[in-house]
Amino acid sequence: MVTRLFRSALLALCLPALAFADEPNLDNGREVNGTCAACHGENGQGGKQGEYPRIAGQSAKFIEFTLKSFRARERINLPMFPYTQERELPDEDIRDIAAYLAAIELPTRPPKFKDTDDALTRLTAMQKVMLIPRVEGDIAAGKTLYESRCTTCHGDDARGKRLVPMLAGQYSSYLMRQMQSFQAGERPHDEEKPGEGVLKGLKEAELQNMLAYFTTLQNIEDK
Ligand code: HEC
Ligand code: HEC
Repeated sequence: MVTRLFRSALLALCLPALAFADEPNLDNGREVNGTCAACHGENGQGGKQGEYPRIAGQSAKFIEFTLKSFRARERINLPMFPYTQERELPDEDIRDIAAYLAAIELPTRPPKFKDTDDALTRLTAMQKVMLIPRVEGDIAAGKTLYESRCTTCHGDDARGKRLVPMLAGQYSSYLMRQMQSFQAGERPHDEEKPGEGVLKGLKEAELQNMLAYFTTLQNIEDK
């Protein structure tokens, strides 16, 4: 009797924990996104020409890791800091919003509509279309530089993987700001000492060439 009681008590304690240990709850993710949408847009597409980065389609691992770094102030983000505090954003919410955003696909071309599609359907679909405008820069030189220093982690297609973020499809101005903050040692990239590493010594024009190259890699429909 005692053991059975003990066992069911143990089960009662463990089951709820097991139930939400790993499986993300996408409905909750959608709800949390209500807060994020104020800055990053309803579909996580970002805005204000990259003041707010695109977060949709980024890997769930990277989003989780990043939200936790903001929360711990390892990566400084003043606008977001209050939203990432434990009371506002517990670990389960982080897991759910990361899975929710990772699953959003943003097409780079307007969809083909059917005559029967109503205005709302069209508007909703158009709000998801995301194409980073071409920027100045030498595309060929950017490709050579990118391939010599960056593909091992960010991938040939610049889409990243796991803890490495995508670069293709992200706002150019946002990427420039991040690269300069890596060079200044203000945000850790993937190096042992702040400011050292693959971006060290690269001139602004060289960074700009890579940004120009990234804008040629973003048509997911072409792949
Ligand atoms: C008040 C505006 C604001 C709100 C609300 C906000 N963010 Fe942000 N977020 C920003 C800004 C600004 C940056 C860029 C910071 C920088 O330049 O380093 C950012 C950066 C990020 C990044 C890093 C992207 C990258 O590629 O490096 C992630 C991930 C992110 N936000 C997720 C979220 C999520 C999830 C929420 C909702 C829980 C959210 N944000 C709510 C303003 C906001
Ligand atoms: C050894 C692996 C590695 C190499 C090589 C590498 N990166 Fe990264 N990169 C990362 C990781 C990991 C992050 C995420 C860092 C973080 O947020 O803590 C990152 C982040 C970035 C970001 C920020 C993107 C965002 O959404 O916040 C940019 C821009 C970037 N890298 C550009 C480059 C460029 C350009 C090169 C080549 C010159 C390069 N990286 C080489 C691993 C690497």
